Amino acid sequence: MKKLTGIKKIKVAVFISGAGSNLRNIIKFSKNKKSPISVNLIISNKKTAKGLKYANQNKIEKKIFNFKNISFSEKKILKILLKKKIELICLAGFMRILSKFFIQNFNGKIINIHPSLLPKYKGLNTHQRVLKNKEKFSGCTVHYVSSKLDSGKIIFQKKIKIRKNDTISSLQRRILMEEHKIYPIAINKILD
Ligand code: GRF
Repeated sequence: MKKLTGIKKIKVAVFISGAGSNLRNIIKFSKNKKSPISVNLIISNKKTAKGLKYANQNKIEKKIFNFKNISFSEKKILKILLKKKIELICLAGFMRILSKFFIQNFNGKIINIHPSLLPKYKGLNTHQRVLKNKEKFSGCTVHYVSSKLDSGKIIFQKKIKIRKNDTISSLQRRILMEEHKIYPIAINKILD
């Protein structure tokens, strides 16, 4: 996907479900003069998502869809994305699986961050499984979203060494710090 020249920034929607530290970081990145993106929409499937506060703090429009009826929610979201001329979706801790229909309607323009060295440890409880298997390394990956969970093309990945005394929470904390570094790198990479 090519960035348009001049002042126009690629309009991004960020989808969240929880704390939103990646969202906060993407917003911060978008405010750099040289950043290729602006965050124009925040979507959550949970009205209690803590990360929604970053929408208010930064005066970014937010929408909440409970996804009880997935197809209804997705059709509504697609309409808003179109209306707001959103060109890229960044999933950041979004805990719902998007349908094939939705992904195809936004083909090649949805990316996600996952806290493991994909293709290893797709799905949930990654840190727990990594520690249980006594892995030497873990990390995080930004990848395109395809209709198969955590399986789209890898854009950028960061590896870290697991320490002897690492716990689920220490690993989560250390990997989250790396996530904050690589999401902007990955966005720059695909829009270059
Ligand atoms: C991150 O670890 C991300 O990789 C995973 O969910 C977590 C979200 O954290 N998909 P936050 O909401 O961005 O703080």
